[in-house]
Amino acid sequence: MSHDFETAYAIVEVSDLEANAAFFSEVIGLAASPAAEGTRAFTNDEAVHRITVVQGTRDDLVAYGIEAMSPASFEATLARLSAAGYAPVENADLARRRSVDRLVEVATPFGAPIELVLGLERGAAPALPHYQAGFVTKGQGFGHVVVATEHFDATSHLFTEVLGFSLSDWIETEIMEGITIEVRFFHCNARHHSFALAKAPFALPTALHHLMVEAGDRDDVGRAFDRTWATTLGIANGLGVHDNDQMFSFYVIAPGGYQVEVGYGAKQITEPWDQVRGYDQISIWGHQPLRLPG
Ligand SMILES: [Fe+2]
Repeated sequence: MSHDFETAYAIVEVSDLEANAAFFSEVIGLAASPAAEGTRAFTNDEAVHRITVVQGTRDDLVAYGIEAMSPASFEATLARLSAAGYAPVENADLARRRSVDRLVEVATPFGAPIELVLGLERGAAPALPHYQAGFVTKGQGFGHVVVATEHFDATSHLFTEVLGFSLSDWIETEIMEGITIEVRFFHCNARHHSFALAKAPFALPTALHHLMVEAGDRDDVGRAFDRTWATTLGIANGLGVHDNDQMFSFYVIAPGGYQVEVGYGAKQITEPWDQVRGYDQISIWGHQPLRLPG
C-alpha cells in the first residue's frame, strides 16, 4: 500500500549508557551503528540508526522520528502542523546529526518532541546474527513506539487530525479492580500500529512505555526470550499473543525502566481498514508479568 510515513527512529535518554548499550546489542541483538560521543546507536535494517541511547539523567524518550516518504508528504505535513499551531522548527544542524536531509522539531502534548524527517540515510544491510530473517521494516520503519500520557485527547488529535495517522483500534479493559486502562493504536502504513497511546490517570514521571521491534522469524523471538531469561533483567510480560494486532511477543524491562517488546507475526493493515473497534482484553493468552528487575 502507498503510505506517507514510516517510523524512522527513537532517541532515548538513559541514566546508564553502558548498561543500555549492552542491552540493545547483546540481549535484544541489534546491530551497532556509528554514534557521537555520549551516545550509542543501533539499527535493525539498512537505516544508519533506529534506536539511539543518549547519556542523561532520565530514562525516557527524547525524540520520536517520523520519516515522510516524499518531499510532498514532508511539505504537506509541515503545512498542517503550522496551520494547527504546532510551530514546527526546521533544524539543519540536528538534521546532519540525525543523518537526514531535512528535519523539523515538533513539541507534543505527551512530552518528547516528534522529529519529522525526510531522507533518513540508508547503508549496507547490517549483520544481525541473532535474527535469521532480519526484521520487518520494509515499508513500515523500525517498529513502534508506545507512550502513556494524561494529555490523551490532545495527543490523539495531533496524530490523527494533524499528522494524518489513522486509528487502527483501541483497548479498554479493567486490569485490576477499579483500574481501567485505555489504549489507542494508530497506523500510517501496513504496520498495525506505529504509535500507540495509553491514557494516564495523572501525570507520570516518564512518557515512554515501550519500543517494539518485529522479527521476521518466530523462533528468533523465542531466542531473544532465552537471552533475556539468562540475564537478571525484569520481564514485564512473558510470551503471549495480543488480541488486537495478534502479535506474538514478550516485554523485557530495559535498564532504567522503560520496556522493549520483541515480537513476530502482527496483523497487517489492509485498505480499506474496516476493523476499527474496541477490544476488552490485551492478550488472547500469555503476557503474564513474569519477573521483577533483578
Ligand atoms: Fe507493543
